[in-house]
Amino acid sequence: MKNPIHVTKTRLPEPEYFSRRCKDVFQSAWITNNGQCVQELELSLAEYFGVPHVSVCNNGTTALMLAIQCAGLAGKKIAVTPYTYVATLSALLWLHCTPVFVDIDPDTLCLSPEILKRCFQKEPNIAGVLPVHIYGLACDTESLDAICREYGAVLIYDAAQAFGSRYQGKSLLDYGEYSICSFHATKIFHTAEGGCIISHSPEAHKALSLARAFGHVNDTHYCLGINGKMSELHAIMGLSLLPGTHAEMARRKELCAVYRTAMNGLPLKYPTIRKGLDWNSAYYPVILPDAAYRARVEEALTSQNINPRRYFYPALNTLPYLDPAWRTDCPVAEDVAQRVLCLPMYGELSDEDVLRTTQGIHTALSSDAKKGPTSSWREGGGFR
Ligand SMILES: Cc1ncc(COP(=O)(O)O)c(C=O)c1O
Repeated sequence: MKNPIHVTKTRLPEPEYFSRRCKDVFQSAWITNNGQCVQELELSLAEYFGVPHVSVCNNGTTALMLAIQCAGLAGKKIAVTPYTYVATLSALLWLHCTPVFVDIDPDTLCLSPEILKRCFQKEPNIAGVLPVHIYGLACDTESLDAICREYGAVLIYDAAQAFGSRYQGKSLLDYGEYSICSFHATKIFHTAEGGCIISHSPEAHKALSLARAFGHVNDTHYCLGINGKMSELHAIMGLSLLPGTHAEMARRKELCAVYRTAMNGLPLKYPTIRKGLDWNSAYYPVILPDAAYRARVEEALTSQNINPRRYFYPALNTLPYLDPAWRTDCPVAEDVAQRVLCLPMYGELSDEDVLRTTQGIHTALSSDAKKGPTSSWREGGGFR
C-alpha cells in the first residue's frame, strides 16, 4: 500500500524558536490570563490583517459565541448559511438563537443575497446575519452589507477558513461588524486550538475582552462571560507560524495550478473566485456531476490510501437534531453537499502526490464515462 495522503497536514513550527519562547514563558510562570505572548500575537495579527482590534480566543467556536453575545444577538433570529462546518450553527444553538437557513449561491457556495432579501421581506424580525466565506472564498460582501443596513441587522462573518484571503485590497476578515477566524491545527495559520474576533470599535473590543474572561475584573462583575482565553503556549505556536504563512499560501497556489492542469477536461465544477479576491487556497473543493460520481471518486481514492473529505456534508438544515420548524428546504446546499469532495491540500504536499490523486480521479471517472452525468450539469466555474 502506498503512503497515505490526507486532506490536510498540520504545519509545525521551527522547534528551536518554539522552545526558546516557551522557556521565557516558563521563567515568568505567566502561562495564561492575557499573557505577554497573547498580547504580542494580537498586535501582530492586527498588523497582518490591517484591522484595528483583534481578540484572540481558545477556539473559533467560542469566538463566534462571543461575537454573537456581544452583538446582542443571543436568543434572536439569525439568518445563516446551511453550507458550512457544523460549528457555525452550534454557536447559534448554544446561544438559543433561532436559525433561519438561507440557501447558497450555486456559483460562490456562499449565502445568497437574493434569497436573504426574500427572507427579510417575509421575516423582518431577523436580527442578525451569519454568512461564511466558505473555503476562504469571498461572500458577496457588498450586497450582504447593503441588505443588513436596509433591515437594521447585525452582520457577523464566520471567516474561520479565510485567514490570508484578501478582497478588494483588504483582508477578508475586515468585513462585517464582527468577523471571526479559527486557528485550529488544520488551518493555514493555527495555534493548535484557537481563534479570534475582529471588531471595529474600542467599545466592542473591550466588551469582547471582558466576556472572554468570565465577564469580571477582580471582584466587579460586569456581564455574562465565558472562559474564551488563549494560553501563552498556544500564542507561541501562532507567533512561531505567522512568518511562514505567506510561503504556505504561495505553495498552495502552485498546487492549485498542478491540480487544475492535471484535471483539465474532467467533468468537475469549482466554486467561483469572485473578482478582486486574492484567495488563500485553503482547500481544493471539486463538485462532481452527481452523488454517484462523488461516491465512486471517494471510493477510488480511499482504496489508493488517499483521503479526500466531504467538506461540507450534510447541509446543516437537514441535521437530525434540529427543531422541525427550522427545517426549510435549501435545494442548492443540499445538492452541493451530496456532490462535493475536498482534495488533499497543504504546503508539504508534493506535485507527485497531487498527480497520484488526479490519476485516481481520472480512472474513477473514465470507468463510468459512458453513462454521463445524471443531473443538469455545467462544467467549469472558478479556479480559472
Ligand atoms: C466555518 C467554520 N466555522 C467555525 C469553525 C470552528 O472553529 P474551531 O474549530 O476553531 O472551534 C470552523 C472550524 O473548522 C469552521 O470551519
